[in-house]
Amino acid sequence: MTRIALVSGSPSEPSRVASLLAWLSRRLETHGIETQTIYVRNLPPDDLLHARTQSPAIARANHVISEADAVVVGTPIYKAAYTGILKAYLDLLPNGALANKPVLPVAVGGTIAHLLALEYALKPVLAVLGATVLEKSVFGLETQFSRLDSLDGYEVAPDLEPRLAEAAEHLVQQVNPVLLRAATH
Ligand SMILES: Cc1cc2nc3c(=O)[nH]c(=O)nc-3n(C[C@H](O)[C@H](O)[C@H](O)COP(=O)(O)O)c2cc1C
Repeated sequence: MTRIALVSGSPSEPSRVASLLAWLSRRLETHGIETQTIYVRNLPPDDLLHARTQSPAIARANHVISEADAVVVGTPIYKAAYTGILKAYLDLLPNGALANKPVLPVAVGGTIAHLLALEYALKPVLAVLGATVLEKSVFGLETQFSRLDSLDGYEVAPDLEPRLAEAAEHLVQQVNPVLLRAATH
């Protein structure tokens, strides 16, 4: 079974990034892929703040990453970069934790002016962890998310969906080209 881990670096609930990752997760599952999402905001704050690499919760999250064939890392843009809590978690991954794994970076920001934060901030950190960082990341604007009344979350705007679908399919292609061929024929 092919597994993909998704990491949400948003401190908020509900979260646009979490909704975007949920959209990607559903899409990946249509290809028969098993997905698991790590919400950094749910990890024990003390473990993150005190860099407790050996804590059971951090070890469990790291195990999800190590078992994954590929990873999606999602973050809101904060101060023209990724969030502090995402970095606090990435700091607790062992060296080379993303080695040989295709990694798709995704972000949601308030302004298109910070589109390049993925390039100059997030991608270098993922590369240091050994990731094969996918060239084509996804940047969404917060205006492309509308709050759902019924459920605690956000709906992704239709104009963002084709880019998400393309990114998901590209990721599937990286981990298992056979799965994608089977789904499209
Ligand atoms: C503390 C803070 C700092 C932010 N800084 C930026 C920024 O520098 N650039 C930007 O484009 N958006 C910025 N934003 C907007 C968030 O990136 C945007 O609202 C995002 O959609 C939040 O995602 P979430 O709902 O998943 O938490 C900031 C928001 C907060 C709360």
